[in-house]
Amino acid sequence: MIDAHILPDAETGTVPATPPVIRREDYKAPDWLVPEIALDFRLDAERTEVTARLYVERNGDHDRPLVLDGEELDLLFASVDGDPVEVAPEGGRLILPLDGAKHVVETRVAIAPARNSQLMGLYASGGLLCTQCEAEGFRRITFFPDRPDILSRYAVRMEADKTLYPVLLSNGDPVANGEAGEGRHWAQWNDPFPKPCYLFALVAGDLACNADSFTTMSGREVRLGIWVREEDLPATRHAMAALRNSMAWDERVYGREYDLDVFNIVAVSDFNFGAMENKGLNIFNSRYILVDPDTATDLDYDAVEGVVAHEYFHNWSGNRVTCRDWFQLSLKEGLTVYRDQCFSADMGSEPVKRIEDVRLLRAGQFPEDAGPLAHPVRPESYMEISNFYTATVYNKGAEVIRMMAQILGPEGFRKGTDLYFARHDGQAVTCEDFVRAMEEGGGVDLTQFRLWYSQAGTPRVAATMIHDPEHRRVTLTLSQSIPDTPGQANKKPMVLPLRTALFDRQSGQRREERLLMLTGAEQSFTFEGMTSAPVLSINRGFSAPVIVDAPRTQDELAFLSAHDDDPFARYEAMQQLMVNALTEGVASGELETGAVIEAIRTSATDPSLDDAFVAEAIRLPSEAYIGDQMLVVDPQGIHDAREAMQQAIGAALEPLWRDLHQRTARPAFSLEAGDKGARKLRNVVLSYIAASGAEDAAALAFAQFDGAHNMTERQGALGVLANGMSAERERALAAFYDRYHGNALVLDKWFQTQALACHPDTVEIVRALGRHSDFTLTNPNRVRSLYGAFAANQWAFHSGGAGEGYRLLADLILALDPINPQTAARMVPPLGRWRRFDVERGGRMRAELERIVAQPKLSRDVMEQASKSLA
Ligand code: ARG
Ligand code: ZN
Repeated sequence: MIDAHILPDAETGTVPATPPVIRREDYKAPDWLVPEIALDFRLDAERTEVTARLYVERNGDHDRPLVLDGEELDLLFASVDGDPVEVAPEGGRLILPLDGAKHVVETRVAIAPARNSQLMGLYASGGLLCTQCEAEGFRRITFFPDRPDILSRYAVRMEADKTLYPVLLSNGDPVANGEAGEGRHWAQWNDPFPKPCYLFALVAGDLACNADSFTTMSGREVRLGIWVREEDLPATRHAMAALRNSMAWDERVYGREYDLDVFNIVAVSDFNFGAMENKGLNIFNSRYILVDPDTATDLDYDAVEGVVAHEYFHNWSGNRVTCRDWFQLSLKEGLTVYRDQCFSADMGSEPVKRIEDVRLLRAGQFPEDAGPLAHPVRPESYMEISNFYTATVYNKGAEVIRMMAQILGPEGFRKGTDLYFARHDGQAVTCEDFVRAMEEGGGVDLTQFRLWYSQAGTPRVAATMIHDPEHRRVTLTLSQSIPDTPGQANKKPMVLPLRTALFDRQSGQRREERLLMLTGAEQSFTFEGMTSAPVLSINRGFSAPVIVDAPRTQDELAFLSAHDDDPFARYEAMQQLMVNALTEGVASGELETGAVIEAIRTSATDPSLDDAFVAEAIRLPSEAYIGDQMLVVDPQGIHDAREAMQQAIGAALEPLWRDLHQRTARPAFSLEAGDKGARKLRNVVLSYIAASGAEDAAALAFAQFDGAHNMTERQGALGVLANGMSAERERALAAFYDRYHGNALVLDKWFQTQALACHPDTVEIVRALGRHSDFTLTNPNRVRSLYGAFAANQWAFHSGGAGEGYRLLADLILALDPINPQTAARMVPPLGRWRRFDVERGGRMRAELERIVAQPKLSRDVMEQASKSLA
């Protein structure tokens, strides 16, 4: 048995100071293939025995041994072609010299699911036994060449106690089951589709099933099951509807049909990420399955729909066609995020979905791309692959697919994906293979476009526009630059598709819209027939994931926020208007509120706009986003300016807010789009009323909290109250706790709301919550809801004059690392932003990173993130 995360060097037995680096360019095809594997599990939470029979085949002409990965496995027995062999793991791995072309290798190991707190491999969660294998968890279950380019057919037999584990699930189709004596039973599952081991899954437990069925486009009937604790069954209806919609959508939009007779989903409460696309047996973090009006917000409902779709879509983009190596992760994740984004847009409001996705990209990916952990969509190297499940690989990766879809057009893109799926079905391939299919299917040359996969950093575009009245011509000059990132300097110009339009200031009319392809460092584009100087609307729909610096006056931005016919551009103009006012306010100490208030009034009273869009348009950018626009982030200045702006807007338009708060009230709950939009707007409006300083604001918020018939309004009101210092704040928090403390997912909201609050004592409150009897380091959702939220609360996290917030987070990272290194490593990036702050704050953040790196027994996960953050 070896310590999981500090692998001793095979030769010397010493622990390396920094973990070895794996490089993309070092890829080699596997020496041995494993076309088939038979697994036999004697399941038990304390001690599970796993027997694995591997049918191995030499790949090519070589005399290298078979090397099997393993981690924390207790080897009980090994044989080759039926003959027992004496072999001991070296650095966790089993090395077997073999003579022939084909052999049968068998191993038996013991593992301890109940003591697996990392939640990788086979682990126990609330009485269940379940697995998580992506990226490298299968080696914690049995000895195997744990890499995605080895595809095997799996036959799985499980045996377990009948009372504790009445339900036994694995990938593929159930083929047999029976009694095993002594209160035990068994089940056999076979998966006909060869798959990489990261897609293996097994679940054993006392589960109830929401059963349904779906008839595919070719008329096959698929049995669908969502497996949860009995009492959670009613909360699975939305997920089931989302699953059926996803299956139909993938047939309609991509021509992709499901391929097995059963499709199962299991919800578990302890999970490192959102969900996992194991073949035929998706395993989910329960927060992405369980929703009902009393406990889940509209955002939760949307997240369930999006994640169910995401994992289902992986059946083609990920499972049928998988990744050759982990550097290709965006091949499946970027593509699948793009697919789930389009699905959600089709199910709801396309403009609002686009605004939400761009906000997410800017909040998560832009800072990553501008910091010490910046990496290309297809990374060149890693120490721990779990650290590369990032916003860059997922969300920027999706933007890269979106740009290709835009360049190819709908028909060309469909031809490209058809070719990709047909050509590579059953293969483990690369991003390059995908791009080539797009080029051939769509008939385009993507040579320069490929830089999106290799160059990190967010491109910046500068625009200047000159109007020549004599020739009635406008010349738009665009230049691009890509910032240096760790290990990458002097980058080449990229392909930036920028949807652009010009507006006539007098008539409000839009002139032609063009898709400008900026491919050089600098390029000019001319527009004829322009009698007067127009207003520039650029990067409409956020057609390229870039930062645009276009000189436009506040007046022009206000004009666009009222008249642009591209909803995203309209939202964007308003955001820019607000950001300009706020950053200038921070710099000069004089806040100019008039233009923002007028623009908000215009949008909030425009009858042509729906409530969901208005809610997006009128809310102020986050403190973090304002900070991202500044050379040096000034958390206090930003907070003060934003609060003052919020107050001014609240007070100036108070009658309007009161009116809207009443108009958006509903007698009963429905998921209908108009009602969802009303709830979204209602919460924004409530925050403006609270900011106005009106005397009855806390009472009004409490009334919304108390009388709500749904969690969206209840949590919205709780969030507003948590920001203040009112007596209602404490009453609401106590009432919320009393009502929901038995529901872990809702209790997460209670922790999160307090960690996100604009309250002067937030650091102390978070510290105390970390000692609360309901807090635990073993549940990732709980950790994220407290510390993840706190680190995202810019003002609170950076407020303590002595760096209290930084110390609190570093202490958490060090305490969590031995328990769950993946989740601990996710908490490092907020400290890695130290270069963005003043010397004093930056120095304190750095000091915490140094304290982390100095820890003797650090995981590979945290070591990589912390050491790179210091470099
Ligand atoms: N493939 C999963 C998804 O995006 C994520 C798995 C991440 N797990 C991990 N240990 N890195 O759907
Ligand atoms: Zn995914």
